[in-house]
Amino acid sequence: MKKIIAVVFLVLLIVILIAMGSIHISSQEKNKVERIKIGVSVYNQYDTFIASLMEQLKSCAVQKENETGIEIIVDIVNAAGSQLEQNDQVEKFVNNGYDVVCVNLVDRTDPTLIIDKAESAGIPIIFFNRELVPEDLKRYDKAYYVGAVTIEPGIMQGEMIVDLLKEKKESVDKNADNKIQYIMLEGEAGHQDAIIRTEYAVNTIVENGIQVEKLDYALANWNRDQGKSKMDKLIEEFGNEIEVIISNNDDMALGAIDAYIDRQKLENIPVIVGIDGTLTGLTAVKEGYMYGTAYNDDVGQGRSLLELAYALKTGQSLPEDIVMTEEKYIRYSYKKVTKENVDEFISIHQ
Ligand code: BGC
Ligand code: CA
Repeated sequence: MKKIIAVVFLVLLIVILIAMGSIHISSQEKNKVERIKIGVSVYNQYDTFIASLMEQLKSCAVQKENETGIEIIVDIVNAAGSQLEQNDQVEKFVNNGYDVVCVNLVDRTDPTLIIDKAESAGIPIIFFNRELVPEDLKRYDKAYYVGAVTIEPGIMQGEMIVDLLKEKKESVDKNADNKIQYIMLEGEAGHQDAIIRTEYAVNTIVENGIQVEKLDYALANWNRDQGKSKMDKLIEEFGNEIEVIISNNDDMALGAIDAYIDRQKLENIPVIVGIDGTLTGLTAVKEGYMYGTAYNDDVGQGRSLLELAYALKTGQSLPEDIVMTEEKYIRYSYKKVTKENVDEFISIHQ
């Protein structure tokens, strides 16, 4: 009798275990990710660098979808310079069951509402390009930042000017007073990149023992048209005194070039350096209007946004070549671009 009970018990146990196993298997199948919905809000969809970053994100999503068979939806909305609008957009993404939200903050000092909203729903949030302060990012364990190494491109601009001075002094210091008369074209006030690029570009020149004279600066909000109209006025005021134009990005540098083209003053165009390596920027380097730029890795940053969103949703780890520091930051290095290596970068974008 005891034996029979023991056998029945064993059989029952096995049946229960199998049943549990199969329940387990079927619930795993249920949880298998079939679709990832990524909501993205950008500060201004007409910003050249942001637009090309978004192109990279979209093309990586298509590629990943093909590789994995998981449907990946990327919805990009434009906050058009309004933080209130962006807060609403993020709220809608959260309420509509998006899996990950990516935010290119309008006001990088004001992410509180967005973080609270995502946190209350437990949705991961990836900030990018417009960097919030570390204290804000640390407030939520599922908040991340994808961007670039902020101090590099200013240093690179400075070095390019220093190198050119060493090689061909007369092409920079046109009045031969051993000083560089320069104009600084700055991006948005308060943007981490505008502040830090400006500071490091000038410091790098000075640290190399070269004297500088700042003729003036102008805020042109990253924008080509504003770059042109600001330079129109500055050319009126300073004319041939301007030896160097240091621009916080390519678009404003292109605006400066437009101003010289308009006046047909190309024979006396100053040495102009930009940052970003957008396709139009690179073309200007190739054609010799812009002396150099620092390539802001839109390909890497776009791919990281996608891979991080994918990893967060599926629970898989990031590809090995994407390095995260402090469990929160992914940053890309810039690369110096002049006429010598410009083709390499043009081919990335074609
Ligand atoms: C880019 C600029 C861009 C800005 C937008 C910067 O990192 O260099 O071209 O306008 O980000 O936030
Ligand atoms: Ca000079």
